[in-house]
Amino acid sequence: MTNNPCCRIVVLISGSGSNLQAFIDSAASGELPADIVAVISNRPQAYGLQRASQADIATAALDHTSFASREDFDRALIKLIDPYQPDLIILAGFMRILTPGFVQYYRGRLLNIHPSLLPKYPGLNTHQRAIDAGDSHAGATVHFVTEELDGGPAIVQAQVPIKTTDTAETLAKSVLIEEHRIYPLAATWFAEGKLQLQQDGVVLNGEKLSKYGFQFNQ
Ligand code: GRF
Repeated sequence: MTNNPCCRIVVLISGSGSNLQAFIDSAASGELPADIVAVISNRPQAYGLQRASQADIATAALDHTSFASREDFDRALIKLIDPYQPDLIILAGFMRILTPGFVQYYRGRLLNIHPSLLPKYPGLNTHQRAIDAGDSHAGATVHFVTEELDGGPAIVQAQVPIKTTDTAETLAKSVLIEEHRIYPLAATWFAEGKLQLQQDGVVLNGEKLSKYGFQFNQ
């Protein structure tokens, strides 16, 4: 780990953590000028916690099933996150809907990745829905998190052509490869001070982005 004072990142996960791994690799190579200071999972068995430990990153599990309400869980999560003094919070396959209180508290420094070309297909089963709709392309979107589920302003999108032979599983694999490219890239822009959430949208390098965000591979 570098000791970069500019950007301290906390990553929230629920599962395998392949996006987390992309962040770990990007920070280790120096491409992402940031320190991943903690990885927190709402599922104690998440494999991503092992990836973090292997990279000497602090880990914590906060089991959502031991909380009576979403509000209680989110308050405890803030208490766990804040001592790490993060500049940026990354949701990387974090499968919990966050309360407005949590989202507002971290407004402008809370990012998510969603496996669809938002605003298409917020929610679950995105790949099957894209196939069923006969879409020519699927993809992924990194966005700032706001109160609207998968509805925050887009930062960057990557597209993947849908092949006639694609199933939801094969398409998910192709999309995931792109996720691992665009998510650390968005964090790099943030760490370099090039990316801001403003009242009327996202600004990258001083210019307002379209509602689809920066188009990575077009
Ligand atoms: C990714 O497809 C992400 O877009 C979605 O959940 C998946 C997480 O994968 N929100 P991983 O845990 O990063 O491997």
